[in-house]
Amino acid sequence: MKILLLSPIDPQAVETLDSVHDLSQALNCEPPELRSALADREVVILRSGVELSADILSCAPDLRLIVRAGSGLDNIDLDFARQQNIRVVRVPGMSAPPVAEFTYALILSLARKVTVADNLIRNGHWPKPQLGGLLLRGKTLGVVGAGNIGSLVGEMGHAWGMRVLGCVASPSDDVAANLAERGIELTDFDTIVASADFLTLHVPLDDRTHHMVDRSVLDRMRPGSTLINMARGGVVDEKALYDALTEGRTVSGAALDVHEKEGEGTVSVLSELTNVVLTPHIGAMALDSQRLIGERVIELTEAFNQQRLDGVLTDAERVI
Ligand code: MLT
Repeated sequence: MKILLLSPIDPQAVETLDSVHDLSQALNCEPPELRSALADREVVILRSGVELSADILSCAPDLRLIVRAGSGLDNIDLDFARQQNIRVVRVPGMSAPPVAEFTYALILSLARKVTVADNLIRNGHWPKPQLGGLLLRGKTLGVVGAGNIGSLVGEMGHAWGMRVLGCVASPSDDVAANLAERGIELTDFDTIVASADFLTLHVPLDDRTHHMVDRSVLDRMRPGSTLINMARGGVVDEKALYDALTEGRTVSGAALDVHEKEGEGTVSVLSELTNVVLTPHIGAMALDSQRLIGERVIELTEAFNQQRLDGVLTDAERVI
């Protein structure tokens, strides 16, 4: 098959695809290059950082399969893909553990001032009294989007002795019972905003969640609380967050792995603030997880080639 790789994936998976198929690569490229790279391709494999809009997809007349090597679907025009009979699959299962673990890398960096301390010690400073931090045990963790990833974050928080509140888009008794078994109390968004010491975001980006955390939400967060964004940049109004962090009335720190503007050369205005930790969308970048995602990408691609895709897809992987 003629396959186009648009984002970096596990090198072993790239080698395998290259040995079996006609593989070309156009990594994180701009629209003009993307349009010509897609011209004769039958399969596209991508992660975040590249957008398959209707305009771009219309340059791929032979395209039959899009493989999202991760979970987010906000960068693919699914309506257009459906109209064109392009299958879309994703690999969400293996992304949950690395993203959940990385959430704690950010929470602890903020709570215990790890990045601030690292910076000071590299410059010869040893200011222990200035580096007092927050304990997680006994605090309230609010998980907005207690799904595949968020519920794992909640379960981990419970194991650390936190009180864990979660909310989901479609609450039900079954969801509440399932979360309760894992130490997560199902409640609503507003209760979480008002109660959480650590508020962590794990929702997909769509019309309902765009700027879900806006000025009014930030105004209602607890004094001294912290915000962690592991979802998508557009979920948080970053201008409003900057203002809230500099005013210091409610939210007192933030950690963001995802950003309203992402990519090489982008510098967030939030980088001016020492009570902020920023990372470049690396939540899923545990190498062990990337290897598993790469293996599954190959399984799905081969199954499609042999016309047995529906036989191997899980419900979570099947998009179109
Ligand atoms: C995902 O949606 O799985 C993550 O954002 C990882 C990525 O694609 O970079």
